[in-house]
Amino acid sequence: MAERFAPARPLHGTLRPPPDKSISHRAALLAAMGEGRTRIVNYLEAADTHSTLAAVQTLGAKVAGTSGFRPGVELEIEGVGLRGARPAAQIDVGNAGTLLRLLPGWLAGQETGTWVLDGDESIRRRPVDRIAAPLTRMGARVSHRDGGLPPLTVEGAPLQGVDHALPVASAQVKSCLLLAGLLATGVTRVSEPAPTRDHTERMLAAAGAAVTREPGAVAVRPAERLEPGTIVVPGDLSSAAFLIAAALIVPGSRVALEGVGVNPTRTGFLHIARRMGAAIEVEAEDTGSGEPAAIVRALHSELRGTTVGADEVALAIDELPLVALLGCFAEGETVITGAEELRRKESDRIATVAAALTALGGVVEAHPDGLVVQGGRGLRGGVVEAGGDHRIAMLGAVAGLASREGAQVEGFGAAAVSYPGFERDLAALAGG
Ligand code: S3P
Repeated sequence: MAERFAPARPLHGTLRPPPDKSISHRAALLAAMGEGRTRIVNYLEAADTHSTLAAVQTLGAKVAGTSGFRPGVELEIEGVGLRGARPAAQIDVGNAGTLLRLLPGWLAGQETGTWVLDGDESIRRRPVDRIAAPLTRMGARVSHRDGGLPPLTVEGAPLQGVDHALPVASAQVKSCLLLAGLLATGVTRVSEPAPTRDHTERMLAAAGAAVTREPGAVAVRPAERLEPGTIVVPGDLSSAAFLIAAALIVPGSRVALEGVGVNPTRTGFLHIARRMGAAIEVEAEDTGSGEPAAIVRALHSELRGTTVGADEVALAIDELPLVALLGCFAEGETVITGAEELRRKESDRIATVAAALTALGGVVEAHPDGLVVQGGRGLRGGVVEAGGDHRIAMLGAVAGLASREGAQVEGFGAAAVSYPGFERDLAALAGG
């Protein structure tokens, strides 16, 4: 599906971005691992989180939608308990890297069962050795295709806690090991080279697990049961960031986004954008979630280039494509370094961001660990290939709105992986 995004009038208005994808995945998994019923308020209805619901149903959890409202849904999930995953065969994770990396942590500690996790073409390029190696140290029986790639086979086995130092900051790997740690003997401790999103720790603690946080590390003790109760999902800052970026680069824009999750382990993009001169205001708002939330307001701004270093990468990992886009509209050079992890996302985002922005007239160089953008000239417009990556599809759309001639995004349908109503929301802000 190709869509055209013409140069936009100023963007104005107030919106509620879709529910957080990371938190929705975790909510469904913890609910499935829990005892009795868990209520999830504002669950993301998108392709990725649909894969997670399908997976937990395959594993024996019962899912019921109690009421639907835009953009999230309210669900009730009846869990199978920590040790009750149905010994099933094939699990299709679709495009969902988070499901691919978190679910094996739970399955690895089951008493019996063998599961094979596989997904789409992009999932088959996402490394799983990063979870397989530490899980194996815990006693797990896991195997994968050569090159550390899916399909991933997990067979339930007795696990022992380990003290694992992550070589690369990854919330997915950390979360996988914490889930496995619930079923292991002794303590499982994960230390990270840089802080990463801590939604799993927060949610596990709220569900009654013994989670201990230390500077640079988190530990979990074995659990008898989880009782998540009610989980309220805030809006997704990673989705809101596309609308914030659009407001910053389309002249005359002013937008407000309500109910956005602003967990400090997710707000790197806001800090980087402000350093570039972005007028962004954050007003705390109570959404009743165990996560901080806010109304985020953004105004069109004169931007200047900046350098993003390795220490900031994990806190803005999914928004770095947008930093490069802002760089095209900023005075001077924007440099992103220490971000080789971008090469292992839904696409090789160093290559796909450079290709997309270059196709639109940007001056963007791909480096092994990042990007260098020469700013000051905006974008002409042209044709962007989403390449099956939802964030590249949305990047192309926003770039089109701010460009002189507009952009055609080939494969725009990929946006539905995380943000099904994206085009409609952009049109609403543009008054169309
Ligand atoms: C995620 C963590 C990040 C992020 C991904 C979602 C999560 O990946 O890029 O979109 O939900 O834990 P890594 O943990 O692999 O860096």
